[in-house]
Amino acid sequence: MTDTELRVSKIQSGTVIDHVSAGEALHVLKLLGIDGTEGTTVSLGMNVPSDRLGRKDVVKVEGRELSDSEAEVLSLIAPEATINIIRDYEVVDKRRVERPEEVGGVLVCPNRECITNAGEPVEPTFAVLDDGLRCEYCGELVREDITAHLRG
Ligand code: CTP
Ligand code: ZN
Repeated sequence: MTDTELRVSKIQSGTVIDHVSAGEALHVLKLLGIDGTEGTTVSLGMNVPSDRLGRKDVVKVEGRELSDSEAEVLSLIAPEATINIIRDYEVVDKRRVERPEEVGGVLVCPNRECITNAGEPVEPTFAVLDDGLRCEYCGELVREDITAHLRG
């Protein structure tokens, strides 16, 4: 996209999550724990034209870099996403998300009896299968929309 076609301004520092599956931007914000009240500066492009994807979403978060576990869960919501780290207006790092064998941290197990929901210091961990996610502690399967099981 040329600068004359830019819909959202460039940012000085932070993370640009580009090539997000069209319509998933709000799920990406939920994944990052951003609801606006924390004061983070965020710019969104939703369903913008993309040569590669037809349509895409773009999420720009200022003053923040993604953690590895956030990037891993992001890969399940937006498998084509590119994570661009911006410093002083320059892209200093560009990564594609990779589908991990396991994800932890930002998802909660839907089984209320699961040890990970008992207030113990146990981080929920899920095996990534072809047809969903499986809780490593209780074996519960998450086959449908994983964004329904995001923490917070
Ligand atoms: N970007 C930004 N602020 C900056 C620099 C870049 O918001 N200071 C955004 C761009 O608008 C783009 C993304 O970060 O959405 C990646 O920038 P760049 O690598 O320059 O763009 P492309 O070459 O088009 O990226 P790709 O090849 O990954 O499509
Ligand atoms: Zn469980």
